[in-house]
Amino acid sequence: MTTALAPPPEAWHNLRPFNLPHPTFRRNLMPPRKPVSRRRFLKTTGTLSGGAMLTALPASAYAGVQGANEFLRLGFIGVGDRGSTLLRHTLNSVSEATLKITAICDIDAKRRDSAVEKCGGMKPAAIHDYRELLDKKDVDVVVIATPIYLHAEHAVAALAAGKHCYCEKPLGPTKEDVKAITDAVKKAGRKFQVGFQWRYHNGFLALADAVGNAIGKVHMVTAARHIGGYPTSGWYVDRKLSGDLIVEQAVHEMNVFCWVLKGHPLRAVGIGGINALKGVPPERTIMDHYSVSYEFPENVTLQYSHCVYTPSGFGGLHQTFYGSNGRAARLEDTLKLTVTKDGKPSTTDIPLPKDQDATQTALQSFAKCIREDKEPLANIEAGRNATLMAILGRTAIHEKRAVDWSEVAI
Ligand SMILES: NC(=O)c1ccc[n+]([C@@H]2O[C@H](COP(=O)([O-])OP(=O)(O)OC[C@H]3O[C@@H](n4cnc5c(N)ncnc54)[C@H](O)[C@@H]3O)[C@@H](O)[C@H]2O)c1
Repeated sequence: MTTALAPPPEAWHNLRPFNLPHPTFRRNLMPPRKPVSRRRFLKTTGTLSGGAMLTALPASAYAGVQGANEFLRLGFIGVGDRGSTLLRHTLNSVSEATLKITAICDIDAKRRDSAVEKCGGMKPAAIHDYRELLDKKDVDVVVIATPIYLHAEHAVAALAAGKHCYCEKPLGPTKEDVKAITDAVKKAGRKFQVGFQWRYHNGFLALADAVGNAIGKVHMVTAARHIGGYPTSGWYVDRKLSGDLIVEQAVHEMNVFCWVLKGHPLRAVGIGGINALKGVPPERTIMDHYSVSYEFPENVTLQYSHCVYTPSGFGGLHQTFYGSNGRAARLEDTLKLTVTKDGKPSTTDIPLPKDQDATQTALQSFAKCIREDKEPLANIEAGRNATLMAILGRTAIHEKRAVDWSEVAI
């Protein structure tokens, strides 16, 4: 049995400490005084004379990677709220010898220019039309953080252009979107990672470990997300564009359930609608609460409820797995593990580190998977199962009937 807090080697190996800006980051924010040749650039950063990053990543590590003779060159499509966060984490991880941002695309000129400015001396190209970014030879990896209804269009085109792809969750609002991206990943043979940063988070890794090792056979799961703060404008509140609350937000939990239970559900029933936020805003068509039950193989039952008008508070976000030998609950910053031995239950509260930023870990892990030709943890299968699980639950709620997996399977 591995220890509860041990992260998987692929998520941690070779990663920098979290939340520490790389020493070169500040320099990147400053415009260079004069044009810098590649040789001088590497020399000033110490990488020609055996600098740390070059030692950490030998030339052989780049073998077979498109355009990665020196750098992984990243292009961003969509630099709104989430895209800006992904950009910040990339800049925190950046070293001139490993990652470089070469292009930023957004149809909103203000957001695009602001993102370009944040990249300082790297001076990425500012692009309006994403197809122009995909035509660029100096982009190896595309980071997609556009609204959900555009993920399939953008990810399929990026993969067809031979780019590795980090695409925000979920894969899309419909099963046709999920199929389009799944087929494109298979065809392209490029690395694809979904924006499920919880897959790289210490708390969830500890939970998965406890469920797999300490609590015996899982019989039942209960989980909830009863916290406020959900966006109240734009594509987010349109159920066609976002896929509705369950697909847009709860897909994070769906990913954890499919990961920990090692598969997808067989059917779902559910109820939900709009109670407290009717007309907020007037164009709202997404639910503000719902409750859904899933059946997994071997009679494992899962109950999940979601409400965006309650204030945040203790226990508002939890996942609890009940097994033949105990119970494991991730409750905000604590893993509560109860194990029964000789008929007696004993409970341990394991505090989970608060200083990890899982998004940064996820991005760093993706870069490592590309360099080392490894499959990402949050791969296309994770994206497909979680998105379809959310679509299954949504169909059950909207249509007020039991829905079988066969109706959403692709
Ligand atoms: N992993 C997470 O924890 C997490 C958190 C928040 C959001 N997200 C996901 O990130 C994605 C983006 O969410 P957001 O909150 O940043 O939305 P947003 O609306 O703030 O940003 C989307 C950006 O995409 C741009 N855009 C729209 N159409 C475009 C096009 N055709 N070409 C280029 N740019 C285009 C918009 O101008 C905007 O700047 C969504 O899929 C969302 O579900 C993930």
